[in-house]
Amino acid sequence: MNIHSKPSALISKEADVTPFVKAAMSNTNDQRLRSIMDSMVSHLHAFLLDVRPTEEEFEAVLRWIVAVGQATNDSHNEAVLAADVVGASTLIDLINNDGMQGETMSALLGPFYRGEAPICENGDCIARGDTPGAKLIVSGKVLDCDGNSIAGAALDVWQASPSGMYENQDPDQPEMNLRGKFTTGEDGTYEFETVKPKGYPVPTDGPVGELLRAQNRTPMRPAHIHFIVSAPECKTLITQIFADTEEMMINDVVFGAKQQIAGDLREKADGTFTCEYDFVLKPGVPTFPVPPIKGKADA
Ligand code: BEZ
Ligand code: FE
Repeated sequence: MNIHSKPSALISKEADVTPFVKAAMSNTNDQRLRSIMDSMVSHLHAFLLDVRPTEEEFEAVLRWIVAVGQATNDSHNEAVLAADVVGASTLIDLINNDGMQGETMSALLGPFYRGEAPICENGDCIARGDTPGAKLIVSGKVLDCDGNSIAGAALDVWQASPSGMYENQDPDQPEMNLRGKFTTGEDGTYEFETVKPKGYPVPTDGPVGELLRAQNRTPMRPAHIHFIVSAPECKTLITQIFADTEEMMINDVVFGAKQQIAGDLREKADGTFTCEYDFVLKPGVPTFPVPPIKGKADA
């Protein structure tokens, strides 16, 4: 049904624009696309009428959007970063993953996920070469919402080096450093060795960094490890386990830190650490994100 009838006169004042644009879009066959664009026009136009940008401001915004595209390539995704620092990614995450069935809370995929991480055996170490940092053993189970262990669940794990960079950002790290794919055993357990993560700054050499500086914001993320946990007939869980102070978590530049996914790191007498964390998957259809990047930046 076409709810926006064709306007009978040309645009002559501010108030004419919104109905005119909506009418022009009202023949969209895909109903979801039609309602998304209709709502987007309502909110965008209301926002513009509220803010009343100058022409110079509008040009600056368009330049910023172009710069986000130009800063994006096979090894860096500035568009994901832009969505993250304005809270859009976390809002979309919570709209789609409310944790209400007792499943583990999800968290942002972020711009540094690569597919094709090395396949590992339980107990393997994902720190390759001479990665600095204290040894950390991460272990636990993958469970369903009734507390049953899930054998054969897949865990795709990645983290930044304590030097502050993911391997794809850093020519000095070995290929696929601090990335690995694990599978739970018959009893649903997983275990891997890594290094204790540290907080790190998101990249600030592009237009997102320019925005963060203008807003006097910290570029820091609290220390964390990323996980994609999947199993047949379960909704795939994309999450992060945090290993940092409450203050760092509250000030997460991308608003990704949540209380439910704060890890419990314990220091042993020998200065190494352990972290036990059980992941709970809810029923659903496994889906996998398209990696935002393909590989390493050219050194
Ligand atoms: C990350 O955790 O890898 C990340 C998430 C959002 C923006 C930048 C980095
Ligand atoms: Fe990260």
